[in-house]
Amino acid sequence: TYVIGEACVDVMDRACVQECPVDCIYEGGRSLYIQPDECVDCGACEPVCPVEAIYFEDDLPEPYRPYLADNEAFFVETLPGRDGPLGSPGGAARIGPLGVDTPMVANLPPTNA
Ligand code: F3S
Ligand code: F3S
Repeated sequence: TYVIGEACVDVMDRACVQECPVDCIYEGGRSLYIQPDECVDCGACEPVCPVEAIYFEDDLPEPYRPYLADNEAFFVETLPGRDGPLGSPGGAARIGPLGVDTPMVANLPPTNA
């Protein structure tokens, strides 16, 4: 899967959302999150992010490693009852902004704003 990391927090440019062919990039409160069961690893999102927040999971820089589990945690833990794919294949546009974040993202200081 591809992963959205800390540079997205409080920036939320959303250019990536327009590129994703399976609509699997979901909007939280301070960041967007890629649903790992829906992402087909097409890579279209990665080059369009103006702050380089997106990486393939195997290419994550060391400080971004926790975001692999954290993007998944958004769907498994932050959104109760939504631990599987949310759409077919994705459903981000239908669901819309979710207004919540993982504890890791929620607790970050507002440094990127
Ligand atoms: Fe965030 Fe970059 Fe997408 S800032 S919303 S990951 S284009
Ligand atoms: Fe979509 Fe990016 Fe995955 S465009 S399919 S989230 S690699």
